[in-house]
Amino acid sequence: MSSEPFTLRWGILATGGIAKTFTKDLLIDVSTRDISDIKHSLVAAASSTSVSRAQDFLAEVGAPLTAKAHGSYTSLVADPDVDIVYIATPHSHHYANARLCLEAGKHILCEKPMTVNAEQTKILIDIAREKKLFLMEAVWTRFFPVSKEIREFVREGGLGEVKRVWADVSFWTDVEKAFGTEHRMVSMDLAGGVLLDLGVYSLTWLFQILYHIVPEPDRGFPSVASQLTKYKPTGCDESTSMLLSFPPNGAHGIATTNIRVSHDASATATASDPIRIQGTLGDITVSSPFRPTSYTLIPASSVSRGTPASFERKTVTRAMPGDGHGHGMFWEADECARCIRDGKLESDDMPWAESEAVMRVMDRVREQGGLVYGEGLESVVWEEKGAVV
Ligand SMILES: NC(=O)c1ccc[n+]([C@@H]2O[C@H](COP(=O)([O-])OP(=O)(O)OC[C@H]3O[C@@H](n4cnc5c(N)ncnc54)[C@H](OP(=O)(O)O)[C@@H]3O)[C@@H](O)[C@H]2O)c1
Repeated sequence: MSSEPFTLRWGILATGGIAKTFTKDLLIDVSTRDISDIKHSLVAAASSTSVSRAQDFLAEVGAPLTAKAHGSYTSLVADPDVDIVYIATPHSHHYANARLCLEAGKHILCEKPMTVNAEQTKILIDIAREKKLFLMEAVWTRFFPVSKEIREFVREGGLGEVKRVWADVSFWTDVEKAFGTEHRMVSMDLAGGVLLDLGVYSLTWLFQILYHIVPEPDRGFPSVASQLTKYKPTGCDESTSMLLSFPPNGAHGIATTNIRVSHDASATATASDPIRIQGTLGDITVSSPFRPTSYTLIPASSVSRGTPASFERKTVTRAMPGDGHGHGMFWEADECARCIRDGKLESDDMPWAESEAVMRVMDRVREQGGLVYGEGLESVVWEEKGAVV
């Protein structure tokens, strides 16, 4: 094996909030996280609005002077120096933007949720497979060392048989004041609503434990029951609660998401950790559902019945690498580099089938709650989508 690190050359599609956060992470030297087998190179960024906006973006994130600014997404995907495109547009545009990248032969890291519905996700997967291109949904939480450690602990039977997972990912907002009717969080034209934006994280916690680590023959699509409350000014969802039952033994997953009340334990005196994984030997709780840097092991209280606890109660903390700067999105970027270096089209930690399954759950929840986006947003016909390119 070559001792030279593999360099992945990135193009950034869109210049909004998360594009800035991700790109700053991408620029953090990999050695700060003790990595020497891969490297990232920021070669270009594109704005759908103007070249100057892309230039401002590159300046703001501290890009190398060699990085190119493109004034359209079409121009970015035609750039021969770009290996992979990070898509950071609103959900409404992911399908069209991803199609554009795939047709141009680019690998993709696409912000969550992968698309508006499961049918669109399936088409992207089929095209990526056919064109032999890497495609991954940017569910960065899964690549935190703590997430991996929890999956491993549970996979090895540390919690016994998991019976229930609770996951709440919510934040308090004065919604009318903060988002009005136009913000992407609530605009029906941008596939707004809390389910697609935050509920996808609640579901990822359920899926990591009750689907991902379940051995193949036993793994299966859950049954889904849900309630959804709409944000009256636009008709998107502001509060959604889901009760899932997973094969093979009917373990329950309770996933909630809300933009009027918070998951944050420090925000309300009586709240507990928003993630709770409950097995026959005890629980794991996690206080930070987006950026998990610690977890608590709580043995089942069986002492009164004469059974010794299977493990000690303790909180395990894994500090952020380097000087603690960075958001933690670099780990998903590292995964992309390793997969592409190794010729893999999908990640073992965020596989295609799972992105599609989570989308199918969200389709079902929207069906049960009567939440339908416009024909243009739900459509799989790419040419009809009027994509911002
Ligand atoms: N992983 C995370 O933690 C995380 C956090 C926040 C958001 N996200 C995801 O990232 C995506 C973008 O979220 P964001 O908060 O970065 O949004 P944002 O700040 O509104 O930025 C979106 C960008 O998309 C481009 N865009 C293209 N067509 C657009 C249109 N019709 N309306 C609005 N913007 C348009 C714009 O860039 P140009 O004008 O330069 O083309 C805009 O700056 C969403 O899918 C969201 O779910 C992920």
